[in-house]
Amino acid sequence: MSPVILAIETSCDETAAAVFKQGKVVTNIVATQSVHKNYGGVVPEMASRAHLQNIVPVVNDALAGSNTNPEDLNAVAFTQGPGLLGALMVGASFAKGMALAYDIPLIGVHHMKAHVLAHFIDEPMPEFPFLCLTVSGGHTQILRVEDPLTMEIMGQTCDDAVGEAYDKTGKILGLPYPGGPLLDEYAQKGNPDKFPFPQTNMPNFDFSFSGIKTAVLYFVRDQIKANPQFIDEHLFDLCAGIQKALVGMLMQKLKEAVAHTGIKRVAIAGGVAANSALRVALNDEVGKSEWEVFIPEFQYCTDNAAMVARAAAFYYDAGIFVNQDAVPMARFPF
Ligand code: KG4
Ligand code: ZN
Repeated sequence: MSPVILAIETSCDETAAAVFKQGKVVTNIVATQSVHKNYGGVVPEMASRAHLQNIVPVVNDALAGSNTNPEDLNAVAFTQGPGLLGALMVGASFAKGMALAYDIPLIGVHHMKAHVLAHFIDEPMPEFPFLCLTVSGGHTQILRVEDPLTMEIMGQTCDDAVGEAYDKTGKILGLPYPGGPLLDEYAQKGNPDKFPFPQTNMPNFDFSFSGIKTAVLYFVRDQIKANPQFIDEHLFDLCAGIQKALVGMLMQKLKEAVAHTGIKRVAIAGGVAANSALRVALNDEVGKSEWEVFIPEFQYCTDNAAMVARAAAFYYDAGIFVNQDAVPMARFPF
């Protein structure tokens, strides 16, 4: 019998709940916190407070939207980490309360594994094994995925995540937080070769994105000395140059990982999976190098509880549960 699972995600600045029922995700509710907009980034304490305010209505919507009574639940799942500790604790405590009240098991889900397992919410689903480039505001990893429960990190960033690089360079250019989506939009109107930025090549399958932030900062600072309007006059070309360097670095390592493993099934996950240039570059490899590419629907790329629910259903089937003493962890081991 397919389980009925309520899943809760509170790792960063989205309060989200989803219900898995009859073998699929049936509701996916996300409340995006707007309180951080004025601060140029997520303010952890404000995130925790907003989760506390949002969690009851979000869970109620997820249950009502799927015609689920709490008594019908077979398990309750929560994101155990990685993420902001105070934010994770809201979801974890809420899930524990539900599990106690309804006498059902608890499932602790790894946020990054859930991003990967978002590929199993809807068709087309990748066959195993496949490679997954997981790109978000907090992570940049290349994973080798053997099955829903077995994934290995082949490479990862040594400093900033690629989403962070988008947001920080966007901030230098005066874009509002998060800069990624707007930088992507402007880049499509610019010339990517007018202002070339360096692409760091790390050993093995690792990445480094902190250098481009400094390169953009110094370049812009020097240009502004001669022309205070420099950013305004060249915004689209600057965005295009940054986008070319960032996507170039991602694609370089992904191609090396494909060559090394011989696995041509390539998936992407996380907020930066929405990026237009990354999608074009991946689709180019379909024709050029016979890759099979998997890009989830946008609502399942950014943080959501549907992916946590899908992951939890795999854990439920495998009998993997946690106890009431489970603690959320900001750095949750993979
Ligand atoms: O996965 P996500 O929603 O949250 C985290 O777990 O971090 O990813 C958010 C990140 C932000 O850095 C945002 O700027 C970036 O994804 N992002 C984009 C685009 N859409 C979102 N970056 C580049 N191009 C986009 N179109
Ligand atoms: Zn995420």
